Amino acid sequence: MNTNTLIFAHRGAAGTHPENTMEAFKAAKLAGADGIEFDVQMTKDRVLVVIHDETVDRTTNGTGWVKDFTYDQLKQLDAGSWFDESFQKANIPTLEEVFKWAANTSLLLNVELKNGVVQYEGIEEAVIDLIKQYKLEDRTVISSFNHYSLVEVNRLDSKLETAILFMEGLYEPWNYAKNVGATGLHCFLPVAVPELLVGARANHVQVRPFTVNEEKHMYGLIRGQCDAIITDWPEKAVQVREAVKKEVN
Ligand code: G3P
Ligand code: MG
Repeated sequence: MNTNTLIFAHRGAAGTHPENTMEAFKAAKLAGADGIEFDVQMTKDRVLVVIHDETVDRTTNGTGWVKDFTYDQLKQLDAGSWFDESFQKANIPTLEEVFKWAANTSLLLNVELKNGVVQYEGIEEAVIDLIKQYKLEDRTVISSFNHYSLVEVNRLDSKLETAILFMEGLYEPWNYAKNVGATGLHCFLPVAVPELLVGARANHVQVRPFTVNEEKHMYGLIRGQCDAIITDWPEKAVQVREAVKKEVN
């Protein structure tokens, strides 16, 4: 039995650190994650930045839309205190900062394009250029809830791996993924039922559900030989994977 389900830290180690900060990514690596997932948007002056929401309100001490800030303004914001006072030095990283650091690790990267609400013109090409600049093509998967954007990624470079993000019970989503040109299904956890895992595997499409935070779900998916899980708690997931390995040996 293959128990090598890969572990992606969701927004970094977001359970223990402020999401989408260098602190959270470094913690994910220390926890033994195989990869990190993070969300990308664009500033007014077209700098790619790593933040989940379209506005800075929830995760910083500022207010307003990411698209209305210049990067120089955005980098002044405190992106850690909302989580815990001890992280007050954390700020919103650029995608380039994350790539520069990740290039010296062996982490897998899941770049989520956050262009469902705000249409950041040219974000696909800008992200691809940076992936190539840092030679990360072979260990990066680009995902999005905006599937038109994934079609655009595939049009620009058909060798890059892409994955569709979805929340609901799509029928035979591996067929839909193939139509988009994607090789992965990043589904909401409740949708990751055995039929989906079996069907996707038979069609050589990778399944990486999010956000898998409870041990019982980690056990279920790792025992079910799911390709990967995306979790806020990479350290716990690594422990569960070790426990499942012992079960089969
Ligand atoms: O990429 C998996 C997951 O991050 C998608 O949802 O809202 O956490 O970005 P969200
Ligand atoms: Mg995300």
